[in-house]
Amino acid sequence: MHKEIIGKATLYLGDCREGMAGMSDKSFSLAIVDPPYGRGEDGGTDRCSKVKQKNGTRLQCLDGGYKKKDWDKEPPPPEYFTDLQRVSQHQIIWGVNYYPVALPGGRIIWDKINDGADQSGAEIAYNSLNQRVDVVRYMWRGMMQGVSVRRGTVQQGNKALNEKRIHPTQKPVKLYGWLLDTYATPGQTIIDTHFGSGSLVIAALERGFHATAYEIDPEYFEAACIRIEQSLQQLQLAL
Ligand SMILES: C[S@@+](CC[C@H](N)C(=O)[O-])C[C@H]1O[C@@H](n2cnc3c(N)ncnc32)[C@H](O)[C@@H]1O
Repeated sequence: MHKEIIGKATLYLGDCREGMAGMSDKSFSLAIVDPPYGRGEDGGTDRCSKVKQKNGTRLQCLDGGYKKKDWDKEPPPPEYFTDLQRVSQHQIIWGVNYYPVALPGGRIIWDKINDGADQSGAEIAYNSLNQRVDVVRYMWRGMMQGVSVRRGTVQQGNKALNEKRIHPTQKPVKLYGWLLDTYATPGQTIIDTHFGSGSLVIAALERGFHATAYEIDPEYFEAACIRIEQSLQQLQLAL
């Protein structure tokens, strides 16, 4: 399987299930994963709707233009979840409401503050680390992004500071940063089985974690590697 090493991240181009098959039990401290939900959100849809601004006006909000792929036809089979629990001590699994498995435990709800966009208003993750329901609010809709997770309901005024989106179901680096700050401890090893745009990897490198991640699509893989490399360079410049 093709492998790239960027800083403390090891990135594989290939099927995560093949990768997990060769791993020892509990190889990773924490899995933070975002597998296909089976909802057809794999590009090709141009979302062009108007979003209400603070001053009451409506702004045309472009959220699309991604090449159509076919990775989101169905969620992973139950065996994927069994394997993930075998290779990692703890798991945070986005999309828990879509999967063919029961995952009793904690939940994390990400409220996207997206004012009724045609994507879901919130996403739900399984969290093996506790039994609570934790809520994080961070605006994420096209060009509208929150200032920070702390001020996630406040729109970033300077669009130049927005996170660039390269993937149809990209999750924000700031959201992954909050997950790591809240649920991981320094020195832990992190695995992401479906890295897409690489947002989790970027957040992990920013915090000095070792991360291992898989992505099956060569175009996403290449674009994410460039994005991760650039973010690492910026990080090193800032030191
Ligand atoms: C929901 S997206 C992940 C988005 C990611 N969390 C982000 O922030 O960009 C799921 C990704 O899994 C990839 N994928 C699908 N099946 C896979 C598999 N068996 N192994 C590795 N990657 C896979 C898809 O190409 C897609 O990029």
